[in-house]
Amino acid sequence: MRLVDFAKSYIKSSVADGSLCIDLTCGNGLDTLFLSKLVKKEGKVYAFDIQEQAVQFTRNLLMEHKCISQVEIFQQCHGSFTEHLPQELKGEISAVMVNLGYLPKGNHLITTNPRTTCASLAKAYDWLSVNGVISVITYQGHEGGIEENTAVKNLISESQWDCTTEFGNKKPGSPILYMIRKK
Ligand SMILES: C[S@@+](CC[C@H](N)C(=O)[O-])C[C@H]1O[C@@H](n2cnc3c(N)ncnc32)[C@H](O)[C@@H]1O
Repeated sequence: MRLVDFAKSYIKSSVADGSLCIDLTCGNGLDTLFLSKLVKKEGKVYAFDIQEQAVQFTRNLLMEHKCISQVEIFQQCHGSFTEHLPQELKGEISAVMVNLGYLPKGNHLITTNPRTTCASLAKAYDWLSVNGVISVITYQGHEGGIEENTAVKNLISESQWDCTTEFGNKKPGSPILYMIRKK
């Protein structure tokens, strides 16, 4: 099974009609679309990306699939996501998806970075409901990717979060999926 499919089946365990979810790196919109279909019209997905191109891709995909009404898209750094969500949603989020790295169809030099990634993950955990989940996929092939994976791993371990890990394959430097559940 691909890591992204592992992540999706894990996310499904915590999301139902009407749930609230966040995609911290919406990119081409595939994860946002997946979440929007799970939460249905009664729920809401908040999607973030720093690139205008990613926001456009995501909006177009959601419109094509008639799921845009349950999604809000922000062209903002995910480190500031708490400034854009209603404050009463703190503790109410069922799932957060984070697919790190660069936009596959875009500029490969624009990547996520350890500082804002870890800041947003720490806040995301705070905003989860009990039993809520976060899936994080790290890639180590791009510049800064190894440092980012190390920073994520250290954050999880220092925070003593309940986490299961899956590896893309056995080769060193392959993608890693972290699946975190709030107790
Ligand atoms: C691997 S792609 C995401 C793929 C996406 N989840 C999908 O389903 O297509 C990573 C994305 O992270 C975005 N990104 C990089 N730094 C960011 C930041 N500080 N805040 C939000 N998004 C960021 C990039 O622009 C890129 O689109």
